[in-house]
Amino acid sequence: MKELLKELREKSLAAIAGAETSEALEALRIQYLGKKGELTAVLKQMGRLSAEERPIMGQLANEVRAAVEQTLEAQKKLLTDKALEMKLAAETLDVTVPGVEPRLGRQHPMYIVLDEIKSIFIGMGFDVLDGSEVETSDYNFTKLNTDEGHPAREWSDTFYFTPDSSILLRTQTSPMQIHAMETRSLPIRIIAPGRVYRKDEVDATHSPMFHQIEGMAIDKGITMGDLKGTLNEVVKQLFGPSTVTRFRPHHFPFTEPSCEMDVQCHKCGGVGCPTCKGEGWIEILGAGMVHPKVLEGCGIDSNVYSGWAFGFGLERLALRRFNISDLRLIFENDVRFLEQF
Ligand code: PHE
Repeated sequence: MKELLKELREKSLAAIAGAETSEALEALRIQYLGKKGELTAVLKQMGRLSAEERPIMGQLANEVRAAVEQTLEAQKKLLTDKALEMKLAAETLDVTVPGVEPRLGRQHPMYIVLDEIKSIFIGMGFDVLDGSEVETSDYNFTKLNTDEGHPAREWSDTFYFTPDSSILLRTQTSPMQIHAMETRSLPIRIIAPGRVYRKDEVDATHSPMFHQIEGMAIDKGITMGDLKGTLNEVVKQLFGPSTVTRFRPHHFPFTEPSCEMDVQCHKCGGVGCPTCKGEGWIEILGAGMVHPKVLEGCGIDSNVYSGWAFGFGLERLALRRFNISDLRLIFENDVRFLEQF
């Protein structure tokens, strides 16, 4: 038996020292020390030994077991160390290799202008609101004093979702006037930029999707003079102090009186050129005093409160601000164009 144990010891230690993977190591552990392992089998024969021999063999067997266990442990550590070493070698980083320069994007010209406009209005005490592009015809039209049968509600102009014309893509940001009046306490000073949709063919000045910025101020004693003063100040901050504007009478169902505001053409200085289509002026917004019916519909006493509202076309402002000749450039996202800003 002594021989058997000695042989087992040599054989197993050699095998363990030669194991190259942790799986092989585990297999060897089972082979020698497992319930049905070789050392266990030898131990099972101890019963057959004489009383004098038993403790001696028992001690020897324990020594063999201890040696096997130790060698297993040592080999295991060796293997993990080696694995770590190989991993580190494989992951070496050469910090002297030139890096790949990331291509940074930049802000879209229209959003540059939008940010400028926002900060001008925030400086004047206005809040910036966000609105939903899907609206009900109630908010897009009816509450804005635009009743059934009004030409603006035509299927040919508006993207409707439902056959009963009740849900649509907003055709203007003006529904935000109603939302603001219904949810805010007076006085109100807000702007609300966002996308609007109309069934227009794409050309140099039209797109079925474009951006507006709605603005509204409601308080006691607000007049058309406040509207003109505010808008003139905004345009001067945006385009420069020498910017010339004019207000023309116009009609909107939800403002009375209504007007449009033009800025003098920056290309020709008002003489007339292709950019302004010979007019000398470029229209940039519609505006007016909020109609008493609209105020009353939102529960505001029109005898006590008055207010104005306007709607800027954002793309037009961007075109003018950066001297861009074609609206399509704003939406095409050609990097050669966008890189210039
Ligand atoms: N919503 C109008 C349009 O899209 C613009 C406007 C806004 C006019 C607010 C008056 C007051 O043309």
